Amino acid sequence: MSKEENKKLFIETLGCQMNDTDSQHIIAELKEHKNYSTTRNMEEADLIIINTCSVREKPVQKLFSEIGQFNKKKKDSAKIGVCGCTASHLGDDIMKRAPYVDFVLGARNISKIKDVVDKKGAVEIDIDYDDSTYQFAASGMNMYKTSVNISIGCDKECTYCIVPATRGEEISIPLEMIVEQVQKDVANGAVEVTLLGQNVNSYGRRFSDGREKTSFTKLLQEVSKIDGLERIRFTSPHPLHMDDEFIEEFAKNPKISKCIHMPLQSGSSSILKAMKRGYSKEGFLKRAKKIRDLIPEVRITTDIIVAFPGETQEDFEDTIDVIKQVRFDQIFNFKYSARPNTQALELEDKEIPDEIGSARLTEVIELHKLHQSEHMDSNIGKTVNVLFESLKPNGEVSGFTDNYCQVFVKGSDELLGRFVDVKITGATRTALKGEVIN
Ligand code: 5AD
Ligand code: SF4
Repeated sequence: MSKEENKKLFIETLGCQMNDTDSQHIIAELKEHKNYSTTRNMEEADLIIINTCSVREKPVQKLFSEIGQFNKKKKDSAKIGVCGCTASHLGDDIMKRAPYVDFVLGARNISKIKDVVDKKGAVEIDIDYDDSTYQFAASGMNMYKTSVNISIGCDKECTYCIVPATRGEEISIPLEMIVEQVQKDVANGAVEVTLLGQNVNSYGRRFSDGREKTSFTKLLQEVSKIDGLERIRFTSPHPLHMDDEFIEEFAKNPKISKCIHMPLQSGSSSILKAMKRGYSKEGFLKRAKKIRDLIPEVRITTDIIVAFPGETQEDFEDTIDVIKQVRFDQIFNFKYSARPNTQALELEDKEIPDEIGSARLTEVIELHKLHQSEHMDSNIGKTVNVLFESLKPNGEVSGFTDNYCQVFVKGSDELLGRFVDVKITGATRTALKGEVIN
């Protein structure tokens, strides 16, 4: 069989880190099986893929205007594929609205990319499809860091969230497959891994082969035994599953990066109940305190949704109170966005006027900026250990501390892939500047 000619793939990725990894899988599969290589120039591409997000409404609106633009500018022969969560939830409606789209591939069907790519009109969006044991081709991206999916789907029913409808029920990837993947990446030079899932710390409750249950803590212990792997990160965990066993492992395992995402969503116990988050304001605060007490240098990040239907001023003040008590190192803020296939749609009559939502969002952002500046400034004068990973065009080298603070220094590619002590000389709200200590 003659080798197929080399073709160009332009891929745009929206949304979360799961989507980034899915895009890496798409790139690797199309390279291995269909001889595609990537291009950053959409106009020379033979295949254009958008890997979409549907968590909030805006990215969905953006999708249609964007593919319209792509269709005008692309080569005549180029195909367009829509993948990811919006593909799952809109399915063949995408082709009805945009008939020039060649295929639609849902977030849970990524392993079928090599089959749909040459099938005009293909729509694969089955949310019961299980590719938890599919071996994707090797992706070979960033030398020093890798990301590995540990589960697909989500079993929670957070009432605002479309993800269970787009990514389906949660299935864990077998532990030995995860370990093998990380070992391979370490053999290729990786020193850091991020374990990915919609709800990582509920890992191990259901496998497609019906094997015995295990836990996320056990997975962390096994992954940390891998020689040559220096740093383990994970996202996103759920505060509900941060039991003592997990928190203690997080605190004492030296390979685990001391930065943790604790998605609060709301500080009000009654809104948390309406969101079906499974914890109260007090429960969240207790866990955050335990983590800060055990690990003084920990950085805690969070997600907050303001203006969930029915959120009173008092509820919102509870959110502000939690922010003041925990003093998050980073907050990802969102204004509630009503999504199809979610339970919160039933609360339509309690929706909060947009101006109130915007004002609450601004208040969260402004308060958070103060905390961020204080946190970052407190590093000035300290010596921190940094894993350097990328060279910037301005001659700076960037890396991250163990608690995942970004640091820039003047230097060369000799620093890449190494852990180096740095004296911090300056700070902005999002990054530190320093000098390498020789
Ligand atoms: N509206 C606003 N924010 C949302 N998120 C998820 N669904 C919605 C929604 N309908 C936010 C949550 C979640 C993050 C990934 O996106 O904060 O943690
Ligand atoms: Fe959505 Fe909740 Fe699952 Fe996160 S845990 S993906 S917010 S349903």
